[in-house]
Amino acid sequence: MPKIWSFGSINADHAYRVPHIPAPGETIAAREYSLGLGGKGTNQSVAAAKAGATVAHIGLIGPEGLWAKQRLAALGVDTQHINQSETPTGHAIITVDETGENAITIFPGANRAFTDAQLEVLTSVTAPGDLLILQNETNLQAEAARIAVKQGLIVFYSAAPFSAEATRDVLPHISILLLNEIEAAQLKAAVGALPSGITVVVTKGSDGADWITPDQTLHCPAFPVKPVDTTGAGDTFAGYLAAAIAEGQAPEAAMRLASAAAALKVTLKGTADAIPSRAEVEAFLARV
Ligand code: RIB
Repeated sequence: MPKIWSFGSINADHAYRVPHIPAPGETIAAREYSLGLGGKGTNQSVAAAKAGATVAHIGLIGPEGLWAKQRLAALGVDTQHINQSETPTGHAIITVDETGENAITIFPGANRAFTDAQLEVLTSVTAPGDLLILQNETNLQAEAARIAVKQGLIVFYSAAPFSAEATRDVLPHISILLLNEIEAAQLKAAVGALPSGITVVVTKGSDGADWITPDQTLHCPAFPVKPVDTTGAGDTFAGYLAAAIAEGQAPEAAMRLASAAAALKVTLKGTADAIPSRAEVEAFLARV
């Protein structure tokens, strides 16, 4: 089976349960606090690994970040291409309200300190047909995507957090683009239309998700669940979808698996540690 290479962020997630997301100038007290492993890249790696894929993470941590590497390894991800830098490990301040909705501030730290040397792994140990998954919490995404295409990899890019500039640079090198509805609208505003000639997957929360290719649009309905914490749901969808594609699943089945995994994640508090296992997702699918 093709291997998944995840070039992505690693964060310490400081999560606060709050009665509501604070308004500008407002101070509120959190009801709960937790510290866990996160980062969009990390969550995607963990999701793909939990789905059953072989996943290697290419990442950077700071001098104090060894715990994150160890936790990623414990969650089933190959961490031998995670290096340490002088820049502190990235972190995120996450507030989650009563409805499960969140607001996130990231401090990129080491995630934006990549140099070309860290990308050499993409030319030395990848194989044609492998997948590269990326998002926008690092630097050098376009360079990583360019090298991966040259090596015959399939490039799967989730344009989150959205940056018109980063997305424009990566677009010429990708096969699959994953966006949520807001990011899709932002991309249309920036470049005029969604890209054609590649697969574009748009997630729409409770309205499900669309798989759009030049020939067809497939719609996958959402699984209704009571949201507890939406943080990392998009990453869970991305990782599961990449794993299903690596398995060779047809788009309908791949989207259904990814949607079910994301729906289950939403019922649990936390990020990387809360991503459901393949067995849990299959059991959920059998129930619904
Ligand atoms: O998508 C959720 C993730 O966004 C969190 O884990 C946080 O670290 C931020 O990167």
